[in-house]
Amino acid sequence: MSSSLTAEQLRSIAVEYGTPVYIYHANKITEQYEKLKKAFAPSSSRVFYACKALTNINILRHVRSIGCDVDCSSVNEVHMTLKAGFEPQRVLYTSNGIAFSEIEEAVALGVNVNIDSLSNLEKFGAKYGHSYPVGIRLRPNIMAGGHLKISTGHAQSKFGIPIEQIDEILALVSRYNIFINGLHVHTGSEIKDVEVFMKVADIFFELAAHFPELQFLDMGGGFKVPYKENEEGTDIGLLGEKVTAFIGRMRSAYNRDFQAWFEPGKFLVSECGYLVTQVNVLKQSAGTLFAGVNSGFNHLIRPMFYEAYHRIENISNPAGEKKHYTVTGNICETDTFAWDRELSEVREGDLLAFYNAGAYGYEMASNYNARYRPAQVLVKDGRTYLAGRRDTMEDLLRNQVEVL
Ligand code: LLP
Repeated sequence: MSSSLTAEQLRSIAVEYGTPVYIYHANKITEQYEKLKKAFAPSSSRVFYACKALTNINILRHVRSIGCDVDCSSVNEVHMTLKAGFEPQRVLYTSNGIAFSEIEEAVALGVNVNIDSLSNLEKFGAKYGHSYPVGIRLRPNIMAGGHLKISTGHAQSKFGIPIEQIDEILALVSRYNIFINGLHVHTGSEIKDVEVFMKVADIFFELAAHFPELQFLDMGGGFKVPYKENEEGTDIGLLGEKVTAFIGRMRSAYNRDFQAWFEPGKFLVSECGYLVTQVNVLKQSAGTLFAGVNSGFNHLIRPMFYEAYHRIENISNPAGEKKHYTVTGNICETDTFAWDRELSEVREGDLLAFYNAGAYGYEMASNYNARYRPAQVLVKDGRTYLAGRRDTMEDLLRNQVEVL
């Protein structure tokens, strides 16, 4: 079975479930996971799906069923993954900027934890001493990633403990006899260059000497996937070869085994997802032909927030004459999805499909303008399921307290 849904499939789902609608193809996630399994030796690596990209419980269950572990960025995500059936040892919680109480909660749940500040490391040491293993999230001072807003490893970034503070880290580890079982670095999102990961490997290689109980070296996520036609993503095969060599180098230098851990979000779910919208209005104005759809940055924020490019297709008229359109939404501020984009001729009522909408699409959607978040439909093995219903007025009002 092909792992991409065809225009025809997208169209018939949109007609059945209405628009706007997010559509996810589980088999594509499996295909992406298989690529990682092939590239990274299972004996010395583990893949944790960074579920912040898409937490629909059916996606979590699918990810679990194919053998992939899961990475969380809040203790609520941890609870969701446990509810989805993940065993605690298959869950990783990579925290940043959180209250210590969340770490205590994660420890009580028995999941793996990475700590990203000296203050929480100190509190952790004081409370748990050597009784619970923990990883340290480091800031490598490396600039990488597809946009400044998604770069996390550079020298001005809030994420991780700066590597130049290694002496402070070691002082805490020794004062409280903390059981450090891992080192973690997440440098950013959409990193095409494999060498970025290798620079992190070099840092791990040096620092490992300080941590005799180290078991895993977590290189984070951030693998690039193609968003544009003919664009290339991270060369996962090459990365796999280099990481295998790195783990071998670690083994010879330190005389024991280590695991490489990864936390991909986009790589696993970006391409599995589609947002299908309907064109409400066409508007011609000096030099610009607007196609206004029944969505906006309230449903897919990536173009406005990160200048992200999402491929768009007119799935109602794929063979139409090519013209240029500026594709916008229907909310009360500028919500442009694409500027001056070539599309097959668009008529009012046509369905436009946005590609690469699986990662950080629905997950970052809001109810701005009191619009409903879209329905979510899952396709697996050729069957179609409603995996999340469209919001209703009741949802919008659910948490409001009528006091007047
Ligand atoms: N691990 C950690 C610690 C992270 O912070 C992230 C993403 C990942 C893994 C997964 O990164 P990925 O493989 O998905 O690139 N909303 C933005 C992306 C923000 C990423 C935040 N952290 C976007 O739509 O581009």
